Amino acid sequence: MSEKKRIFSGIQPSGDLTLGSYMGAIKNWVALQDEYECLFCIVDMHAITVRQVPADLRRRSLSQLAQYIACGLDPEKNIMFIQSHVPQHAELGWVLGCYTQFGELSRMTQFKDKSAKHADNITSGLFTYPVLMAADILLYQADLVPVGEDQKQHVELCRDIAQRFNYVHGDTFTLPEPFIPKMGARIMSLGEPTNKMSKSDPDGCVFLMDKPEDIMRKFKRAVTDCDTEVRFDPKEKPGISNLLSIYCTATGKTLEQAQEEFAGQGYGVFKPAVGEAVVELLRPIREEAERLMKDKAYLEGIYQEGAQRAQYVANKTLRKVYKKVGFVAK
Ligand code: TRP
Repeated sequence: MSEKKRIFSGIQPSGDLTLGSYMGAIKNWVALQDEYECLFCIVDMHAITVRQVPADLRRRSLSQLAQYIACGLDPEKNIMFIQSHVPQHAELGWVLGCYTQFGELSRMTQFKDKSAKHADNITSGLFTYPVLMAADILLYQADLVPVGEDQKQHVELCRDIAQRFNYVHGDTFTLPEPFIPKMGARIMSLGEPTNKMSKSDPDGCVFLMDKPEDIMRKFKRAVTDCDTEVRFDPKEKPGISNLLSIYCTATGKTLEQAQEEFAGQGYGVFKPAVGEAVVELLRPIREEAERLMKDKAYLEGIYQEGAQRAQYVANKTLRKVYKKVGFVAK
């Protein structure tokens, strides 16, 4: 095994990837791939905790892989795979569920939010979702888990479960840490800039695969304020501040440079300029992902090899766990 620290992260294919997923997650993953041993997963088993249209889920899972690669994740350097292809996730998930308290799961804020939103379909899968997530991480003995602020509680629960298991059965799992990148831009909705950009709000959200004209339209309509000054001030000017963050992340400019560039210009100049910057950022990603989507054999090769490499590591952990809990060896 290499000396590098190990990273595990994943995104649910429950919607198409957004500018928020790129700027908040994938862009950081790209920066980590040389320094760490990384596994990047398409967590389709998590996606079915709320109802999905099967054909859409299948298309998005494959398209997500194409987009990961188009964003610069190298399938040679990283293990990239689809969660349901590695049965050890479900198997370890069951065991860990027997080391997780009902009360702990009841306290998860994401469960509270999602069960309120899907009140007609609160499944046990939605409830035990954090256990499956713990299995994802612990199977690979990951040291670090890059996640957004909203997933920190799940990673902390994962640590608690691992610690409990280690306490009962002796050292088995590496205790993972949430890894929240300092510069991880938290991209907000263009329609409601106090909410995170979300795939469930298509108007406030830019998708990586959006066409230039759609991107421009969304930025021109972005909610701002009745002032005219392009100034970074998330409290007083959440809309403009979000657009400034997006502009800086897209162009690599600093906030100072951007504020100076648009001093005295007004929003009519600023908003389309942000749109243009995003169009240029996403153009090569979209074109490459479209090209890869036409090459199904290539994508298949990538996810099959990814699953094989993942299984090799996952299986080692699972065998150890099965032995420790007292299962008869096969
Ligand atoms: N729960 C994460 C989210 O909704 C996705 C996820 C599933 C994940 N398993 C993971 C993230 C393991 C990091 C590590 O964003």
